[in-house]
Amino acid sequence: MPMYPFNISFSKTALVLATTAAASMAYASAQAAEVEVLHWWTSGGEARAANVLKELMEAEGYGWEDFAVAGGGGETAMTVLKSRAMSGNPPSAAQIKGPEIQEWGELGLLGELDEVAEAEGWDALLPTTVADVMRHNGSYVAVPVNVHRVNWLWANPEVLAAAGVEMPTTLDELFVAGEAIREAGYIPLAHGGQAWQDATVFESVLLASGGTEFYQRALVELDEEALGSAQMIEALETFKRLRELMDDDMSGRDWNIATSMVINGDAGMQLMGDWAKGEFTAAELTAGEEYLCAAAPGTQDAFTFNIDSLAMFRVEGVEREAQQALARLVLEPTFQEAFNLAKGSIPARPDLDMSEFDTCAQQSLEDFQRTAEEGGLVPSMAHGMAVRADVQGAIFDVVTNYFNSRDMPAEEAARRMVNAAQAAL
Ligand code: BGC
Repeated sequence: MPMYPFNISFSKTALVLATTAAASMAYASAQAAEVEVLHWWTSGGEARAANVLKELMEAEGYGWEDFAVAGGGGETAMTVLKSRAMSGNPPSAAQIKGPEIQEWGELGLLGELDEVAEAEGWDALLPTTVADVMRHNGSYVAVPVNVHRVNWLWANPEVLAAAGVEMPTTLDELFVAGEAIREAGYIPLAHGGQAWQDATVFESVLLASGGTEFYQRALVELDEEALGSAQMIEALETFKRLRELMDDDMSGRDWNIATSMVINGDAGMQLMGDWAKGEFTAAELTAGEEYLCAAAPGTQDAFTFNIDSLAMFRVEGVEREAQQALARLVLEPTFQEAFNLAKGSIPARPDLDMSEFDTCAQQSLEDFQRTAEEGGLVPSMAHGMAVRADVQGAIFDVVTNYFNSRDMPAEEAARRMVNAAQAAL
């Protein structure tokens, strides 16, 4: 696991900037080559982050064709990508993550990046666990842009103060704080009723109530005993109780709208991955003062990771040249710093100077290292890091149907989880 030593000095960054400038002059006269990049970074914070890559590419003389498909969590983007790929016209690069990279690799559609990887020393740069996910049949086919943490709680300190409560650190405290926030006249927990958001909250609750070992058995290994256990039933029931802290208009609401409810003081808290921090940053709020972050209640010793990456499709000629430049830029310090400052995540390469990052990002890095050593680092099921896309979809269905059902008992939902896992085998 990575150690993230802080050993890249500012002068190195300056050197990179100078090199980038020189390279852009060299490329200026070259034939205009373009990359088309599919992603779902469309919220305020996400778009600012995506723009960093567009600008760096353009500074090197390459064109950027933006293929943004709105929809948090990326389900719509993946559907659009499949139809483009099926018609034999995939983009140059696409936001594809985790085990799904292997699925695309097996279809024979991805192109390799080995030359760039070797020239840039990716093997030495990337933690093995990250590098392994980016390779198919031994060749790099994707490049990681960041590390997001999913198990976070965000809060508006003024709302907490008005309710006379502190940031909750356990699930019990979350319910108590939520009640006080409601009594003070605010929505306790901002949420958007979409399957992926329900699953995002559910996995944090399961992690808190069952611990990392249980999380690993249930949502990563799909162990049927764990999926059907009393522990699972308890997690489902606690998850369902959270509805009491949400408002009646949550159905279909986008995650960033929920974040804006915390920003403007309509709501007190939100359980969401740290792309939410990108929204607080875009609103020019200061971490630790104008908004608060903490590990999702009861998950202080765990870190559910979600690594965004760009997978490269098999393309030819000048498009391939531009694609290789894109891959190189993504792991350079200039991009890693600027992108992740805007995105809310921490850099994918562990050797960067983090002094420009806010206190939430510093905590994320610290917790990443600590949980990697102590065993609390787990892949996010809700964000495509743990299981295949079809299995994830089946789990989403169970979670969201149960959450929205008036009368489905938790026992029935647990049984359906077991069925989902069996169907996967
Ligand atoms: C992606 C993030 C994105 C979030 C909301 C996650 O699955 O990894 O990059 O910001 O969805 O759309």
